[in-house]
Amino acid sequence: MTQKPRLYSGMQPSADSLHAGNYIGALLQWKDLQSTHDAFFSVVDMHAITVSQDPAELREKTRRTAAQYIAAGIDPSNSTLYVQSHVPAHAELAWVLNTITGFGEAGRMTQFKDKSQKQGADATSVGLFAYPVLMAADILLYQTEVVPVGDDQKQHVELTRDLATRFNARFGADTFVLPEPVIQRETARIYDLQNPTSKMSKSGETPAGILWLLDEPSVTAKKIMRAVTDTDGEVRFDREHKPGVSNLLTIFSVLSGRTISEIEQEFAGRGYGDFKKALAEVVVGAFEPIRSRALELLDDPAELDRLLGVNADRASEVAETTLATVYDRIGFLRRAR
Ligand code: TYM
Repeated sequence: MTQKPRLYSGMQPSADSLHAGNYIGALLQWKDLQSTHDAFFSVVDMHAITVSQDPAELREKTRRTAAQYIAAGIDPSNSTLYVQSHVPAHAELAWVLNTITGFGEAGRMTQFKDKSQKQGADATSVGLFAYPVLMAADILLYQTEVVPVGDDQKQHVELTRDLATRFNARFGADTFVLPEPVIQRETARIYDLQNPTSKMSKSGETPAGILWLLDEPSVTAKKIMRAVTDTDGEVRFDREHKPGVSNLLTIFSVLSGRTISEIEQEFAGRGYGDFKKALAEVVVGAFEPIRSRALELLDDPAELDRLLGVNADRASEVAETTLATVYDRIGFLRRAR
């Protein structure tokens, strides 16, 4: 039997709900790829604490994120769906990789530059600086071949490749597999509904611009009806001149399985009101089953925790094997048992 290619991806449990960007930019790809790949999906709580988190809320958001993975179609008996902090090897490999990462190299990560600029130097933690190195550890521990992500993570996957290449050159060519990012061009970036030139983001400044997977249907519909468009009234895709309408068209197309030109034709000469109403139906139709299934799963946290525990055992087995090789190659003395 040929082995399926290994896939790895994760999301931060940094909000009560995932948003349309997470769902369309990543989760939909995960769902499609899980049957053809040996897939590992983590809830990256260790990444989430690189900015301040309330402990009780973090625990709850971690469960909520896992529940949404399952509700959106990730099968935890086939894919390995687990919580990052349950597998200590992530922190251990990250430490080793920190020692081969250049200070300047880490400082060039655009996400770090953005986030640290917003927070100011004193509020910015060393953890936030080292964040992409922990992400490299996530990916490399599992000998990952493909990493499906939105385009904001591309630079981090490139750093991961650089670190793997560097480690392999110094300590043994077959230590790490070099991972490839998988980025779906059309959906790599979903934009904020109120500010359609900025990406939809968990830390977005415009609550009305973010479509949460767990929003009540009436809230989702209201946000879509109020989405920023433009004054020419034409439902036409033009990213540069009509960013609001183009973003709505992308969301419509992905969630309905119809092409953008089909949708443009259907709404030609009909104005934005009709278009938005139809889009609201499409989005609610896609999100509502996920929302109700996620809430059902969250009603039984003990069962959810049990599932995550079983999956963490599976993840640990793979991760520990890689870590043992790494420790050996860098010259750590083996502990006598
Ligand atoms: P995070 O939690 O910010 O986002 C999770 C996934 O959603 C994608 N995404 C988007 N895609 C399209 N449009 C958007 N507006 C949008 N916003 C977010 C992200 O690209 C991502 O795929 N560092 C990662 C988590 C991580 C990880 C990993 C990913 C940690 N270790 C290992 C892959 C492999 C992050 O913060 O994603």
